[in-house]
Amino acid sequence: MRFTVNGRALEAPVADPALPLLDWLREDLGLTAAKRGCAEGHCGTCTVLVNGRPVLACRQPLAELQGAQVLTLEGLSGPDSLHPLQLAFIREGAIQCGFCTPGMILAAKALLDREPDPSDRQVARALSPNLCRCTGYVKILKAVRQAAVWLRAGQESFRREDVLPADPAPFGRPVPRVDALAKATGECKFAGDLRFPGMLHAAVLRSEHPHAEILELEVSGAAARPGVEAVLTARDVPGRNAFGLLVADQPVFAVGKVRCVGDALAAVVAASEAEAREALAHIRVRYALLPVVDSPEEALRPGAPRVHERPAERVGSEGEAAEASGPGEATTPNLVARKRSGRGDVARGLAEAEEVLEDEYFTPFIEHAYLEPECGIGVPEPDGRVTVYVGSQGPWEDRRQVAAALGLAEERVRVAHLPLGGGFGGKEDITVQIIVALAALKTGRPVRLAYDRRESIRASVKRHAESLRYITGVKKDGTLTAVRARILADSGAYASVGEVVIQRAVSFGAGPYVVPHADIEALAVYTNNLPAGAMRGFGNPQVTFAAEVQLNRLAARLGLDPFEIRLRNILEEGRPTVTGERLRSSVGARACLEAVRAALRRAPPPAPRAGWKAGTGLACSYKNVGLGTGLDDYGGASGEVLPGGILRVRVGSADMGQGSDTTMAQIACQVLGWPYSRVVVESGDTDRDPASLITTASRQTFVTGNAVLAMARELQARLQAWLGGRFAVPAVGIELRGDVFVEAASGRSLAALPELAELAAADGVRLRAEARYSAPRTWPDLREPAGGDGGRRLHAAYCFGAQAVSLEVEPSSGRVNVLRVIAASDVGRAVNPAAVEGQMEGGVVMGLGYALSEEFRLEQGRIVTDTLARLGLWRAAQVPPIECLIVENPHEEGPFGAKGMSELPVSMAAPAVVSALHDALGIWITRIPATPERILQALAAS
Ligand code: FES
Ligand code: FES
Repeated sequence: MRFTVNGRALEAPVADPALPLLDWLREDLGLTAAKRGCAEGHCGTCTVLVNGRPVLACRQPLAELQGAQVLTLEGLSGPDSLHPLQLAFIREGAIQCGFCTPGMILAAKALLDREPDPSDRQVARALSPNLCRCTGYVKILKAVRQAAVWLRAGQESFRREDVLPADPAPFGRPVPRVDALAKATGECKFAGDLRFPGMLHAAVLRSEHPHAEILELEVSGAAARPGVEAVLTARDVPGRNAFGLLVADQPVFAVGKVRCVGDALAAVVAASEAEAREALAHIRVRYALLPVVDSPEEALRPGAPRVHERPAERVGSEGEAAEASGPGEATTPNLVARKRSGRGDVARGLAEAEEVLEDEYFTPFIEHAYLEPECGIGVPEPDGRVTVYVGSQGPWEDRRQVAAALGLAEERVRVAHLPLGGGFGGKEDITVQIIVALAALKTGRPVRLAYDRRESIRASVKRHAESLRYITGVKKDGTLTAVRARILADSGAYASVGEVVIQRAVSFGAGPYVVPHADIEALAVYTNNLPAGAMRGFGNPQVTFAAEVQLNRLAARLGLDPFEIRLRNILEEGRPTVTGERLRSSVGARACLEAVRAALRRAPPPAPRAGWKAGTGLACSYKNVGLGTGLDDYGGASGEVLPGGILRVRVGSADMGQGSDTTMAQIACQVLGWPYSRVVVESGDTDRDPASLITTASRQTFVTGNAVLAMARELQARLQAWLGGRFAVPAVGIELRGDVFVEAASGRSLAALPELAELAAADGVRLRAEARYSAPRTWPDLREPAGGDGGRRLHAAYCFGAQAVSLEVEPSSGRVNVLRVIAASDVGRAVNPAAVEGQMEGGVVMGLGYALSEEFRLEQGRIVTDTLARLGLWRAAQVPPIECLIVENPHEEGPFGAKGMSELPVSMAAPAVVSALHDALGIWITRIPATPERILQALAAS
């Protein structure tokens, strides 16, 4: 058959009539820009153009394309040029992780080719087959409109070299991301895009049952299948057959019994992925079913079946251990951990209250739905070491766990971090890493394990489902007197970071308010559901939903304005949190609320359609920046001047698409006055880069950003000292102007950046510096110490936010249309306003999904929502206008005053939506998502 691909005529024998176009492009032609996000027609990451029309290449049989013209992203521009869509995506900040970008750009091209001046609605509809989990679509839609303007003006091509500005002071400016060009052109390689000579492929057999004894596991049938090189089971794990970030309770391969349908039993390694998957069917497993524990309430019942018979080994450090009880607590079955915060005397606080509200709230499991399914490659090294190539949020945590499973010293394992196609917390835990490392050492060849979408959903952690019982007491004027909360979190079959998730829940469970009497307790509980772990917000979205709806209900009862009740109680410098900490710097809750109120006053909410009712709801929240709780929260950075005047910054922090590499580049350039176009950032390689802790807790801007700040200052001092000595001028009088170091007093040129490294080398000098930063000391106290906090703090910094959601709802159907969101975030200082907006927009849209449609459902431990299409993810056409208000309130210890904020915007949409529904219909929804069915039920019951 004949085709034209990116202008090149090709002939190919098509042996398999069902072979998808995507497989041919990626595997045979090596054109990897088109991504495999689902292979089921649900995500759009595989979009290419066939005869000018957008086609989902994963669903398009190659055999039907005789004579077709195929365009992939690789063919859109030349080696030195960019298509207007590519530049617009870069300039508008429409690229975060970049995994959706190739498909989005080509879908947009097809639209602009047929409709040069599309309406906003046409753009949104054209892009709706394409999911983006990062951006909230806002900047993508804006980029398409910008590209349309350029194209209509006849600007059809732009120079690549103009993408990054030479700005020597990029801090606080919306400069393009350092990795945006590679992502806009498809040149960025994710793990699934890598190929190694002689590479084998692994596939994993997972449990058929949520809870069962394994009577027999017989793999010889699989071992005899064509192409199979090895079959791995627990017997092949030379070290600890268990992993976990805090508690090593999850087996690499199940032994004795399975605890959830995600459990791995065996892995087949074969010459091709198809052969590996085929061989799985020849593994024989016999089970004896055990009773399924499918809810925390059931798990805590006296006499409930045990998910784990014994406590597992405590291994990690992400969180304080003092109150952890572990799975062996004698009187409470299936307990992962219990945490409790508070101050004062709640009974007294409730007695002093003039209005008390008690109710229970429910939040669902949520699938992260990052568009890049998990993938990793293990490569055996000649010296006996092993390298794992993987997109991970915590390369050093991966290395620790891989080494333990392999029975190796950590130095024998290298984790080489690759770009992540989204993480949102879901790529903190081990997925493919141990199996590929083990398989590589077993076979002596590179081995790749790539989950398909259903396996990604089956074998990854979720946001905890929770039930939250709240009692809130207030005076008639709205002054809070007491909050008591009891929270049950479903940890699923394994602990992951559940202990820390509930620690955050109790720390932030009363909202950003002064509560004189508080008692908040949370339990994380084992069940036979899929394991829950870290997800954006990390315990915060659940408690923000319950606490903020409580506050709005009390305001409604008392006839108080939702802004007023909040401002009456709001946290400010010097006022205590529920853990008794007196906040000391950068407390922007009031400023966020006032910014949202002013925006609402400037432009009242849009009117509803005929037959629909409109409502507006408000919510406010705060969360930690950094790990805090007494841990050494550190990050490292190094910097070196390379030939050509390139500043190379290396950091341990893993960028998962939120933009931490760009943050580090901006901070380094700002200190040194270095042109932003001359900086490269490398991150997350355990052999190469300074160690850092995991990307979690909104911590990288504050922690690793401070390490970069210190490194850059040190490098500047070294540069000036060397130049001063070399040119016999005072070191303090040397400045970088443009790309030339000059003597400031005389203006005399000393050395140009492109020749700097060579000059230094001639002098025997290496222009390099390294720094490590540890966040200010914190303590793990969750209850207010007697006599005040004594200056102790739980976390180094906090970020604050407020959101107002306006919506219309049709009472006859329960359908909801969000009309507008106003979101304010206190970020300390915005390192990159476009990136901050991108995090806010992405968080808001993820939060709207949480509020109205998203739910990961299981029944009796079995997955119901097993595809991207069933998860209720939002698409471009659903997104309302989002007004982002960046509140700058510099933190005294942040780099140039910056804090961090990636997670918090996800937390406030759900309570704001539920409160807006009350404003419109007079109902209160206590279980999210607020689906049309639940709205109709609440209306019927009202
Ligand atoms: S990979 Fe084709 S639609 Fe998802
Ligand atoms: S940028 Fe769209 S999925 Fe990450």
